[in-house]
Amino acid sequence: MSAKILDGKTIADELRAKVAAEAVKISAKLGRKPGLVAVLVGDDPASQAYVKSKGKATEEAGMASFEHRLPENTSEKDLLALIAKLNADDAVDGILVQLPLPKQINTARVIEAVDPAKDVDGFHPMNAGKLATGLPSLVPGTPLGCIIMAKKAHGSLAGLDAVVVGRSNIVGKPLAQLLIAESATVTVAHSKTKDLKEVCRRADILFVAIGKPEFVKADWIKPGATVIDVGINRVPGADGKNKLVGDVAYQEVSKVAGWITPVPGGVGRMTVACLLVNTLRAAAARAELQAPNL
Ligand code: GUN
Repeated sequence: MSAKILDGKTIADELRAKVAAEAVKISAKLGRKPGLVAVLVGDDPASQAYVKSKGKATEEAGMASFEHRLPENTSEKDLLALIAKLNADDAVDGILVQLPLPKQINTARVIEAVDPAKDVDGFHPMNAGKLATGLPSLVPGTPLGCIIMAKKAHGSLAGLDAVVVGRSNIVGKPLAQLLIAESATVTVAHSKTKDLKEVCRRADILFVAIGKPEFVKADWIKPGATVIDVGINRVPGADGKNKLVGDVAYQEVSKVAGWITPVPGGVGRMTVACLLVNTLRAAAARAELQAPNL
């Protein structure tokens, strides 16, 4: 058996086209384009690449993209001052502070400083709390993208056994909350989980977000299960150049799974598309307009 591919590019492009159509309508009502600011501290190459692709996608969706690049030795005070300025700027609907931040900066304080109404990453405790209690909120892009992909494979997720490997605030925890809201039966596994392989084998849908290259093997998968790989790891390829691989051993797992997401071209594409969705939602909500139809 060979798994069907959940193609992140096609699904994300569909969503981005809808965002672009809604952005035209909202821009007409606002008298300006919805605006997203990315803040990047330091010169980590992966973070630079992410910020660049987010900016390009924002402009392609007909929204305004702004960037602030600050040096690696930026103080927390200076970063907080910039965030306060962006919070007060009416042309800014979404603020994204690229993580990780340099060690002299307290990440939790920075996340809490972002106006929850402009928190398009959905990382602010106010948005995390709303998600956990079932209130409408801005939801982190990667888990939202995972849910959209899982629904492409299954339609409804109600009653399915979902296993999430990873418990980060960015992916694992919000993903578990979203799956509960979809009426799945949810297990969150992590580095201290006993018999991780056996836990994974129970999954109808397995989500892996642990940052370990090709960690999950074919014999961890229930035949026919859906496998959603959140990992993006740079490893040396056979030709000596770096290549991207997920947290799942794609070649062997795709022989057992029913559906699988590739890396690259899987969840990563959805993260960017969902960020655009959130920017549009934030712009509409801030102007007290009807939520966009996405
Ligand atoms: N670093 C890794 N993933 C993310 C993300 O989704 N948002 C931000 N801001 N930083 C990240």
